[in-house]
Amino acid sequence: MKPTILVTKRIYPEAIEYLKQRAEVDYVESDDGLSAPELAARINGKQGVVSQLTDRFTAEVIEALVGVRVIANVAVGFDNIDLPAATRHRILVTNTPEVLTDTTADFAFTLLLAAARRVVEGHQYVHSGQWTKWRIDLLVGQDVHHRTLGIFGMGRIGQAVARRARGFSMRILYHDAQPAPEAIEKELGLELVGQERLLRESDFVSLHVPLLPETRHLIGAPQLHMMKPTAILVNTSRGPVVDEAALAEALDQRVIAGAGIDVFEREPQVDPLLLKLENVVLAPHIASASVDTRRKMSMMAAENAVAALEGQRPPNLLNPELWERAQR
Ligand code: DGY
Repeated sequence: MKPTILVTKRIYPEAIEYLKQRAEVDYVESDDGLSAPELAARINGKQGVVSQLTDRFTAEVIEALVGVRVIANVAVGFDNIDLPAATRHRILVTNTPEVLTDTTADFAFTLLLAAARRVVEGHQYVHSGQWTKWRIDLLVGQDVHHRTLGIFGMGRIGQAVARRARGFSMRILYHDAQPAPEAIEKELGLELVGQERLLRESDFVSLHVPLLPETRHLIGAPQLHMMKPTAILVNTSRGPVVDEAALAEALDQRVIAGAGIDVFEREPQVDPLLLKLENVVLAPHIASASVDTRRKMSMMAAENAVAALEGQRPPNLLNPELWERAQR
């Protein structure tokens, strides 16, 4: 008998085709997602779930699941799933790493450049017909080349951002509880520093940490006040890593010069003050949103779900201890 899989939200069609050849698929073909009660009702009787970052698998939701063997998240981040609770309930959890590394790093750099060189303000200026003469100091911004970039989190995406920064002849500082391998530090010219030094010395600060209790509000008012008044903050990690209200206040008061922000604390809501400011470039959580990458992420999640339900080790397993225990 084929296993049954719930797909909670619209994904790329080739992933649905792949799933349909191997499983009975209950496909929620909409972008709205399911409310918690809808999810609980729809999941009933399924063995697998292909989920997205807007689906909340809290401990309470997980404890109520019956018969679910795998949750395959279409994202590298998995802060929407209580992993320890899933492990306790013997549910395999997978994510979609690597395929989005370069795409996300490209976008972090896009935000950095756009905020530094005031691209959005320039677009609006031309578009609205305000451009009537060339001026020596028209929309002057910050240089990026030869400046200092501070990276919080030197995992795959942090390293890919550092690689781009090398091309701009930047000096690169980083902070991570787990230092990068020496060979990577050497290759990319990285210097491991404490948080405070990173904040005080960097012209640009880019965040690439997962959302964990210890990274929630990693950047709040005290950290923003340590940054240079000319500095720019870039966040493509998770919204709650930054205290959004404190950031809006700091940008408004010119405590820092600018920001490029792709992720927010209460998506899709955005702090109303942020919406009014010109010194911030805002994007709707699209750092990994290239056609190729989003297709690959959809396929990867489908393959992870099918592997688990066919009794194979899913390629991107987040709780391998569960798998190893089952093999003993
Ligand atoms: C992720 O994968 O975690 C991104 O935030 C969405 O692509």
